[in-house]
Formats: sequence, structure tokens, C-alpha cells
Amino acid sequence: MGEGRQHEELLAGLLDDPPRIAPKYFYDELGSRLFEAICCLPEYYLTRTEAEIFASHEGEIADAIGPGRLMIDLGAGDGKKAAGLFSALRPAGYLALDISADFLRAALAKLGLRHPRLPIAGAAIDFTRGLELPRDLFEPQAAPRLWFYPGSSIGNFHPGEARTFLGRIARQCAEAPGGGALLIGVDLVKGAAVLDAAYDDALGVTAAFNQNMLLHVNRLLGADFDVRDWRHMAFFNAEASRVEMHLEASRDVAVSLSGRARRFAAGARIHTECSYKWTPEKFGHLLNAAGFTRLRTWTDACGWFALVLAEV
Ligand code: AVJ
Repeated sequence: MGEGRQHEELLAGLLDDPPRIAPKYFYDELGSRLFEAICCLPEYYLTRTEAEIFASHEGEIADAIGPGRLMIDLGAGDGKKAAGLFSALRPAGYLALDISADFLRAALAKLGLRHPRLPIAGAAIDFTRGLELPRDLFEPQAAPRLWFYPGSSIGNFHPGEARTFLGRIARQCAEAPGGGALLIGVDLVKGAAVLDAAYDDALGVTAAFNQNMLLHVNRLLGADFDVRDWRHMAFFNAEASRVEMHLEASRDVAVSLSGRARRFAAGARIHTECSYKWTPEKFGHLLNAAGFTRLRTWTDACGWFALVLAEV
């Protein structure tokens, strides 16, 4: 999708009732850095717990996957998570996909220095819209693929969309010459207090991450949101099994969006993120419905997070 259409979609969301901004707009350069900071917060257990699962089952996971794969990282960020697995997984190549082009370029340059013998490539694409990889990008095309989707980013999809997206990966796994598998991390349902704290931390880093989206939108649409008018809100919606993040207007505000005026009354909310939490059973059914038949699941001692290796 072209940039023009992206902006139209963004604008349409902001003019809608209730207004919304898609979570991919969190990740401009500052947003990507703020997300890295979130991953260091004591309340944000996801990254730490996932790393703990990898650390406790590394040999088993590596054996189940096998060496010599082309590792395709969906939402690579700084690529450190994947790089931490290189010595155990011994991939034939690493292809990093991320929505943030600048962030990706800088991260891969650093990664290349540390892993000079591993073929590394990157592409700035919005893979939520389709998984057609850029051609002529990469040498070890024929290697069996390992789609890597850690961090519970799948949680940003509504269940029906998650099924479609995972179905696309399953089809890629079935059709690629060398075959393929998916290694995916997913956050599990747990008590609301733990979830609420993870998305509304004491230092206010998640608040800054949420509010920064408005600065990003200001640049993209030439809008004039004042971050000070918008309060961070995050809570677990148990019925829908998801954490929701919103930005709430603290007073009546008028905003100019690509030359169009919109008023937001005090208390109005812009919905910025859904982060779905799954049970291992429901997530297994989701992967089955997407076309994966063989599943292996690893979890931490508290049962807070799961890592699943899915094959067609
Ligand atoms: C990157 C989508 C996995 O939902 O936990 C972190 C994003 N939002 N804090 C998540 C996020 C607020 C994160 N994901």
C-alpha cells in the first residue's frame, strides 16, 4: 500500500467514531526506542519471561527446529532477540522485516559487524498487509524457513485477523521449496493487576510510548495534537481478553488534521491498541484453524507466556 493510502487510512481512523490510530504508528524512531525501554521495565514481564523460556529450553527448541534455516524475523526491531538465538539455532541466513526503515537500517549495520559470516538482509515492509517478500533480496532463498514472530506481537491482531495472518504464514510454510515452520511467542491470560501494571508502569514509559504516537501523527498528517491534552489509559478488558490502550482528552480540544478540523470533547478517547491475551488451548486452536498441524509449546513456571513451534 502506498504512502498516500496509508495516510488516508490514518486520517479516516481519526475522523471515525470512536476515533482510532493503528498500533503500527507507535513505531517511529522515538517510539521504537521507547518500546525498547518498556522491555526493560520491571512491570513489563513479557520480554523477560519469553527470554527465560528460551534460556531454559534452548537445546530442546534448537533440536526441534534444526540448523540451516533462513530465519525471517517479523518485526525485528533492533534484531537483538533473534541474534541471541543465532548460536543455538545456527541459521543459514537472517532476514529482518520491520515497519521502521531507519531503525532497521541502523540495527542491521551493527548486527552485521557482530556476525560477519551470516548473510543478513532487511526490508522495511508492513507485513501485516501481506507477506510477499521483496525479490532478489537474499542468497539463502532455498533454505527451509523459520518464521520468527516473538514478543506476543500477534496480540495486536483481533482473533479473526490473527487467523488470516497466521494462515498466510502457514501457506508460505507449505509452499516454500524447503518448507518452513513458525516460532511464535504469545502472552497468556492472567490476573488483571499484573496486566494493568504492565501497560501502565510507574515510570510512565508506556504513557510516553502511547502519547508519542500523536507526535508521529503530527508529522505524518501535518496535524497539531498537543500531547499535554491527552492522558494515557490502559486496562485489561476481561470479556474481550485483551488489554486496551487509549488516549483520553483531558479537556475539550480542537485538532487540525490534514487541514480538516476535528473537535474532541473532554473525556473522549482515541483507541490506540488492543493487546490480546490467549489461553494455550485457544491459541492452539487458532494455529490449527490457520493450517498448522504440529505444535510444540513451552511456557514459564508461572504460565504467563508461551512459545510455540508450529509446523504445517
Ligand atoms: C509489541 C504488541 C507485543 O502489546 O505488549 C507494549 C506493545 N504496548 N506496551 C504489547 C506494547 C504497550 C506490545 N507488543
